[in-house]
Amino acid sequence: MVTYVDAATAPLRNDGSIRLYNEEAFAAMRAICAITSACLDGLADLVKPGVSTAEIDRFVLEFGLDHGVVPATLNYRGYKYSSCTSINHVVCHGMPNDKPLREGDIVNVDVTYYKDGWHGDSSRMYPVGTIKRNAERLLEVTYESLLRGIAAVKPGARTGAIGAAIQTYAEAERCSVVRDFCGHGVGRLFHDTPNILHYGHPEDGPVLKEGMIFTIEPMLNLGKPHVKVLNDGWTAVTRDRSLTAQYEHCVGVTADGCEIFTLSAAGQDRPGLPPLS
Ligand code: MF3
Ligand code: CO
Ligand code: CO
Repeated sequence: MVTYVDAATAPLRNDGSIRLYNEEAFAAMRAICAITSACLDGLADLVKPGVSTAEIDRFVLEFGLDHGVVPATLNYRGYKYSSCTSINHVVCHGMPNDKPLREGDIVNVDVTYYKDGWHGDSSRMYPVGTIKRNAERLLEVTYESLLRGIAAVKPGARTGAIGAAIQTYAEAERCSVVRDFCGHGVGRLFHDTPNILHYGHPEDGPVLKEGMIFTIEPMLNLGKPHVKVLNDGWTAVTRDRSLTAQYEHCVGVTADGCEIFTLSAAGQDRPGLPPLS
């Protein structure tokens, strides 16, 4: 099936080279990512015991339509939803359904909006009611690992510096890093070069240049790093059924570091956890 997103991006292709974006593109990414972040802000009040992930998905669709954007995941490679909703041992690509969330669950909501040729991709973890201390610790470590990956972004460093920063910190905190999914170039395309691995060494991967735009989206497990994809072809779970968490930001490389396009204007980057000063 050809979707509106496919039609709009048909002249573009992922030919293996890494796109460099100008200031106008950075402005467009600021705009689309602000809507994605505002949606994730709005979800904080909705995610409670008894609410289903289908209701979350409806909110994501309606919030998008109200703001003149469409969910890029709708009909993306056969995916049928406006969001991914990944609960407890689901690593990513969980499909919304009618089952109510339960007190103590942790759920990742991953939203990518599309408008006028631009994609804004971000995800956050939402505690459902009161969660256990080990779950809260996993959320804190996972968000901190994302911040450490972001801190490694600057022209001249390699993509491997991001992965190394995430892996070193995560493993020191006795969490494991999922290898099977990675961050990605984003902007005109939903998933573009380069791949951003969340593990590895500073000398790995291509050199970062001003104007690159990509996501960083580490998935950390309390148990082993191994995952499997269920028979539905999408839902990825930890093989040992251990608890897993993920946060995702879109960043653009600047002259001396990077700009985070998907920061919450409301300071809600880690919903349900104390705000970072
Ligand atoms: N938003 C996800 C990412 O971070 C991709 C979801 S693709 C879908 O890259 F088809 F599963 F929705
Ligand atoms: Co992504
Ligand atoms: Co995403």
